[in-house]
Amino acid sequence: MSPALCRNTTIRLESFLKHYQNKAMGFFRSLISTSGGIVYHARALFFERTLWRSHQQSVKTFLNAWNPPTVSLVLVGPSAGYSLPLDFLKRFNNITAIEPDPMARLLFEMRTGLRPHWIKDPFDFESKELQFPQGAILFCNLLGQIESTGNLEQKLKGRPWASYHDAYSTSNGHFEIAFKSASAQITDAELKTAYVPSSSQHIINDHNTLRLFSKSETPLSFYYWNWQLTPRRSHMIEGVYSASAQE
Ligand SMILES: C[S@@+](CC[C@H](N)C(=O)[O-])C[C@H]1O[C@@H](n2cnc3c(N)ncnc32)[C@H](O)[C@@H]1O
Repeated sequence: MSPALCRNTTIRLESFLKHYQNKAMGFFRSLISTSGGIVYHARALFFERTLWRSHQQSVKTFLNAWNPPTVSLVLVGPSAGYSLPLDFLKRFNNITAIEPDPMARLLFEMRTGLRPHWIKDPFDFESKELQFPQGAILFCNLLGQIESTGNLEQKLKGRPWASYHDAYSTSNGHFEIAFKSASAQITDAELKTAYVPSSSQHIINDHNTLRLFSKSETPLSFYYWNWQLTPRRSHMIEGVYSASAQE
């Protein structure tokens, strides 16, 4: 083999190995992630039919209020669909789902009987161009786990979209909030004083999601509810959707 051919073959082999190494790392990362992956599926196994019922009902009411006028739906981070009502999903002729966790994809199909078109790479929030397929877009409790969402609202302009996401979490108790809708976003201060348990034992994590849509140019509808994730851990969920629902 000539030296040039040998060098080319080595370079090709290296990039081939690197590609599959990155894929394998992504695969394992998605399995052990704390916001998805095995820990999340184990929690679902224990609590989906008990503690999570009230949250599932709240998601259902929220999605029925959104009711986008499209035949296609794009789910971003649906996991196995634990929070998503089947009758809502069945309204759409086709569903595309962006979900990097292979176990979530398998469980989604087993639980719902639906076969979405899967996009297995994580959605790149930093990309300049919007890479969503056609349809209404639903962010499924993902935005509170993403460090930077780029200029998301700008990218979603003119598309029907909705998101439910963690606003706050506590590792010891629950948020004293019944399901409620609001025409304006509740402020940080209002949430903290009105709904967060006052005991100093409660450790509250702020997911920084209340800033995401605070300067919106389009009218938005807001919903708030408590999700008792485990007997000790709770999320305060914010649901938000764009009122301009043209595809
Ligand atoms: C907190 S879990 C979602 C829970 C689920 N939607 C529910 O409500 O039961 C976050 C999900 O987002 C997925 N995920 C993480 N980063 C993502 C990305 N950049 N694009 C799409 N999905 C992502 C994870 O694999 C995980 O299944």
